[in-house]
Amino acid sequence: MKFFIDTADLDEIREAQDLGVLDGVTTNPSLMKSASEKAGRKLDFHAQILRICELVDGDVSAEVTAVDFDGIMGEAHALARIRDNVVVKVPLILEGIKAIRALDADGIRVNCTLCFSPTQALIAAKAGAAYISPFLGRVDDISADGLKLMEEIIMIYGNYGFKTEVLAASIRHPMHVVQAALLGADVATMPLGVIKKLLNHPLTDIGLERFLSDWRQYQD
Ligand code: G3P
Repeated sequence: MKFFIDTADLDEIREAQDLGVLDGVTTNPSLMKSASEKAGRKLDFHAQILRICELVDGDVSAEVTAVDFDGIMGEAHALARIRDNVVVKVPLILEGIKAIRALDADGIRVNCTLCFSPTQALIAAKAGAAYISPFLGRVDDISADGLKLMEEIIMIYGNYGFKTEVLAASIRHPMHVVQAALLGADVATMPLGVIKKLLNHPLTDIGLERFLSDWRQYQD
C-alpha cells in the first residue's frame, strides 16, 4: 500500500518524508489556500507544485479548477509540464470524464477526484483514469458508509481488471487506513496528523518506559 500525504505545506511534506515511508503527495485548491494562509502570502500554484515535486520522487497530484473540457485540458497540460511526476486531478463531472479520456490519449495521468459512487468510479476507470479518489470521510460525514463505497469500487475494478488505482482519500483517522488496507486499496492519502498516529500505541510507550527503567536499575 502506498502512503501519500494530503497537503500543500512543504514543512509537513518534509516531516513525512523524514519518516522514509512517503510515496507521494496529493493537493487540492483548499489545501493550497491553507498552505498560503500558513505562509502568510499567496503562494504561486505552479511554483508550489514544482517545490513539492523537488522534494518527492513519487506522484504529486495537482488539481485543475476549470470545469469545461477546453479549460480542463489547458490547465492539465500546463500542470503536467511542471514535472514528470505530476498527476493531474480532475473532478468527476461530465466534462472531466471527457477530459480524462483525452488526457490519457495524450499520455497525461489523471487522479479522478470527488468520487462518491461506484458508478462514478466505473466511468472514471473506463475513461482511463490512473487513480480514482473516493472521499471516505466526506461520505461518513453525511451518515453514509465511505468504506462500503470503496469496497464496491475495489470489487468492480477487480471484476473487470481495470488498471485504475484506488486512492483512499478524505481519510480522517487511523481506522480508515486499517480498513482501506484490509480492503486492498492501492493508496491512502492522509494528513500529517493521521500519518503520525499510525505508529502510536500507549502500550509501546508504557513498555519502553519499563524497559528503560529496568535497564537503569540493572546498570546501578
Ligand atoms: O484531497 C482530497 C481529500 O483527501 C480531501 O479530504 O478531509 O477535505 O475531506 P477532506
